[in-house]
Amino acid sequence: MPLSSRHLLGLQGVPKEDIQLILDTATTFREVLERPIKKVPTLQGKTIVNLFYESSTRTRISFELAEKRLSADTVNFAVSTSSVKKGESLKDTIKNIEAMKIDMVVIRHAAAGTPLYLTKICNSNIINAGDGTHEHPTQALLDMYSIRERFGGLEGLKVCIVGDIAHSRVALSNIYGLKTMGAKVSVCGPSTMIPRNIEELGVDVIYDIDEAIQENDVLNVLRIQLERKAREYFPSIREYATYFGITKERLDKHGKDVLILHPGPINRGVEISSEVADGSDQIILTQVTNGVAVRMAVLYLLGTQN
Ligand code: CP
Repeated sequence: MPLSSRHLLGLQGVPKEDIQLILDTATTFREVLERPIKKVPTLQGKTIVNLFYESSTRTRISFELAEKRLSADTVNFAVSTSSVKKGESLKDTIKNIEAMKIDMVVIRHAAAGTPLYLTKICNSNIINAGDGTHEHPTQALLDMYSIRERFGGLEGLKVCIVGDIAHSRVALSNIYGLKTMGAKVSVCGPSTMIPRNIEELGVDVIYDIDEAIQENDVLNVLRIQLERKAREYFPSIREYATYFGITKERLDKHGKDVLILHPGPINRGVEISSEVADGSDQIILTQVTNGVAVRMAVLYLLGTQN
């Protein structure tokens, strides 16, 4: 059964059946990653360009590994050594790359809506690897995969997204995806970092981190995005850590199991303490491993439907 779209731009409006199909397909690829030879011939002959206009460690390497493990030909575009530095526009850049006969583009860009724009001017399948503060669909899919793997399902599960909700593409994609899959979603953070009217997306708002820990099965703890001026939204980093940081003492105080996720990169000692980031309540590196399988599933489903 194919996906309902030939692109993955975000999780807003993506049907439950599509998310289910991606997560189920990822389970098959997760098994491939445990084999001595972690490679299948599924996308042999396909060419995929990874176009990262913003920095990335996890997403870029994860997509590249996923492509290689599906036997696709991959090209990594580095803005710093490209003709973008000579002033070439995004449109001219992508048109020239497409003229070299490619099949799929994975794009990360600081401007929200860039992946959608590419669908208007390209013939390739477009996958959003994070567009500004808009969406980061494969991160949310790997988060959902990892939660589902732990709990056996998502329906009825209580998931709280903690931190800078206003500037987070991870938060928005998680909200759309988790709501579609039947989870009960809340957000927690300083009032300055919670968008007005977010309740209209069907989420509860919690301003007290202890209440968030007490009431939820899962906390997805977001990075404080210092590069997006997040520092201006609370008095000091120390104060943020005091009121919203996830520490072992805080978790122990509640005496209940709550699963901790973090999309990375981590600000240790700010949104999460080192003890929690390396401790038994978290699945941060499991998320990273699962990310390769989830991206293999997305690439396979999009790359074989034409
Ligand atoms: N989670 C995430 O998107 O990490 P990178 O910015 O390193 O890709």
